[in-house]
Amino acid sequence: MSGALFPLPAEPREVAAGAVHMPGWLNLEEQSWIVHQFRQWAAGPVPPRAAVMPGGHRMSVRTVCLGWHWQPYRYTREATDVNGMRVLEFPDWMVRLGRRAVAEAGSVASDPGVYGAGDPSSDFSPDAALVNYYDDAATMGMHQDKDEKSNAPVVSLSIGDSCIFRFGNTATRTKPYTDLTLASGDLFVFGGPSRFAYHGIPKVLPGTAPAGCGLDHGRINITMRVTGWL
Ligand code: SIN
Ligand code: FE2
Repeated sequence: MSGALFPLPAEPREVAAGAVHMPGWLNLEEQSWIVHQFRQWAAGPVPPRAAVMPGGHRMSVRTVCLGWHWQPYRYTREATDVNGMRVLEFPDWMVRLGRRAVAEAGSVASDPGVYGAGDPSSDFSPDAALVNYYDDAATMGMHQDKDEKSNAPVVSLSIGDSCIFRFGNTATRTKPYTDLTLASGDLFVFGGPSRFAYHGIPKVLPGTAPAGCGLDHGRINITMRVTGWL
């Protein structure tokens, strides 16, 4: 049956207050279009790089940024830890996509005002995107996204291989947490009481990228953020 060949995405679900998973949010055409954009971002001015943490540990994901360049643990306009070039502008289409993501995730959340009392279709103005490429072996340890001076939600989009996404709590990097699968096309929004929850990627699931998503192997994750920096 086609149901086995083309399993329907799972239903949208609020994993924790303000943390909403929307499986299959991007269709294959949108996914492959975004991968095409990714290849252009990766071609420069600042190439993807694996960031080195202050303790000397090198991250296993490679990151290219839009709008603002992230390095541990700050945002700069120029990639002073790579080649000193200014990063590409944050694209308008991604602002619009982010607004739609926040509006739709908010409609799934049990508290409809969880991402702010205003109109999410115009109030969410992301100005930085971290685009991470994961190869088969890449992982990301439990961390908080806390280099932003804003409590606006973080919008995450995944394309390519599925991964295990561990979404925890705001107090510790350990349990309680929820492990879920982020597949190609999935949206995950975390804001409100979950904005500063620890999260990480214990594992990529090689060979799970769907045909037509634009990526034969590996995983791309885009997180859009409001830095609060001027
Ligand atoms: C991140 O925490 O910045 C990335 C999360 C992901 O790859 O899904
Ligand atoms: Fe993160």
